[in-house]
Amino acid sequence: MDSSLDLSCALVIFGATGDLTHRKLLPAIYNLYQQKVLSDNFALIAIGRRDKTNEEYRVEVYKSIKQFSRFSIEEEVWDGIKNRIYYKSMDFLQKEKYVELNDFLTEMDRKHNTKGNRIYYMAVAPEYFEGIVDKLSSCCMNKVEKAWKRVVIEKPFGRDLQSAKYLNSKIVDVFQEENTYRIDHYLGKEMLQNIMVLRFANMLFEPLWNNKYIDNIQISSSETVGVENRGGYYERAGAMRDMVQSHMLQLISLIGMEPPNDLDPESIRNEKVKVLKALKRINLEDIEENVVRGQYSSGQSDKETIIGYREEKRVASSSNTETFVALKVYIENFRWARIPFYIRTGKRMPKKSTEIIIQFKSIEDILYFKEKQLQPNMLVIRIQPREGVFFQFNAKEPGTEQNIIPVQMDFCQNCQIGINSPEAYERLLYDVMRGDATLFARWDEVEYSWKFVDSILEAWKNQNPTFPNYEAGTWGPKEAELLLQKDKKRWMNI
Ligand SMILES: NC(=O)c1ccc[n+]([C@@H]2O[C@H](COP(=O)([O-])OP(=O)(O)OC[C@H]3O[C@@H](n4cnc5c(N)ncnc54)[C@H](OP(=O)(O)O)[C@@H]3O)[C@@H](O)[C@H]2O)c1
Repeated sequence: MDSSLDLSCALVIFGATGDLTHRKLLPAIYNLYQQKVLSDNFALIAIGRRDKTNEEYRVEVYKSIKQFSRFSIEEEVWDGIKNRIYYKSMDFLQKEKYVELNDFLTEMDRKHNTKGNRIYYMAVAPEYFEGIVDKLSSCCMNKVEKAWKRVVIEKPFGRDLQSAKYLNSKIVDVFQEENTYRIDHYLGKEMLQNIMVLRFANMLFEPLWNNKYIDNIQISSSETVGVENRGGYYERAGAMRDMVQSHMLQLISLIGMEPPNDLDPESIRNEKVKVLKALKRINLEDIEENVVRGQYSSGQSDKETIIGYREEKRVASSSNTETFVALKVYIENFRWARIPFYIRTGKRMPKKSTEIIIQFKSIEDILYFKEKQLQPNMLVIRIQPREGVFFQFNAKEPGTEQNIIPVQMDFCQNCQIGINSPEAYERLLYDVMRGDATLFARWDEVEYSWKFVDSILEAWKNQNPTFPNYEAGTWGPKEAELLLQKDKKRWMNI
């Protein structure tokens, strides 16, 4: 991290008593402070609806850091940061409260020398984004004279193209695109940042990274948990909006993009957006061929009986929200024509994992291949919870005359002692402070992602799913297996 940068700022979190703030944002801020990344000129202004004193809020912050931070809490470090944390109770629908907030932030500039630089972080339900931005504007809290003002918008960014466009128009009326940070926390994960390095810093991979040598690409993101206490949110989202529109399409764009001219944020995002533009739309006539959706029923884990999605809290008993989706996607460009990208994501799967599998084509059937079908070469980029790279190739089995077996190299980044990868939110908050938007979605990325997803959502309106259709604790409906079997392929479970 660059110590010459001036990161002086006040971070204003709207929704500071919520789940995201406690589990992710507060530990990330503590970790940045512990690593001496935060500026000495820093203040955190936490905004919630409930009444609390600064002291009461600080006690809660301490508990959350203790529970969720990757570092154990050090009293000396805590003493250094706790007096920079302030709690303000306000209903963010009340305009007059923003005048008070603005005065308070000016006081912070004097007290902590935050220099008028401000980050407004929307850790709130999406229906509040517009109202808060609007009130910030009417109190001139977005004005960038001599100091910067940046806004961070949590996902979901809209619920379809139309609502996303509307929201975007409201935000860019107040904050310019360069000051708007649309967060997709997947982009802050270590291994996602590593995808470009693996591709463009290794002679071994980049020349083969195309339809001539790659047979198919599989991207799987599975969770063992259900909707936990977010049933209300999930009912309106489903796996397609919650995972595919954001995280999964971002992964495709990083895997599929051309090398950028340089590492400038705009150059990188220009290349990513070209991939999203080139995604072949899936309409009603080709949905059967390319898309499978599912919803879990009750099931059994080693320890307990798991309830089905329709029995979850704040979920309708006849809900048709999908908790699983598998897709076959094509990027229609010179590099990727005819190569399927299979993606699947779901809740209540047997394993928590996100990984990308690049399966290379089989070698021509001469020499060794004649004797026996060889295993394909495979490169696996493991995103979470294990972070690393796995590579499979063929070698002679020791001792036998001519048996060929697949052997594996398995580099695990976070298994090594001493490597404690930064949490995604640490990296992302740091980037907002230093004004680097590379790991945030630009508007056109969001726009093209919605265009792709909208056509599927539209097609779904004409079909009635037979839900539930997979048992909790399994890999989704059987149709997801058939999706690949039709192409004489199968999901790889590495
Ligand atoms: N939780 C996650 O893991 C996660 C992950 C990715 C994205 N997100 C996104 O992050 C955002 C926040 O999610 P969350 O799970 O943290 O939500 P949450 O737990 O429901 O928290 C919502 C926060 O908003 C505050 N609030 C609501 N209405 C208010 C009002 N009128 N005035 C002032 N404060 C008000 C609440 O304050 P009180 O509690 O004081 O009422 C609370 O601090 C959402 O957009 C969500 O989609 C969350």
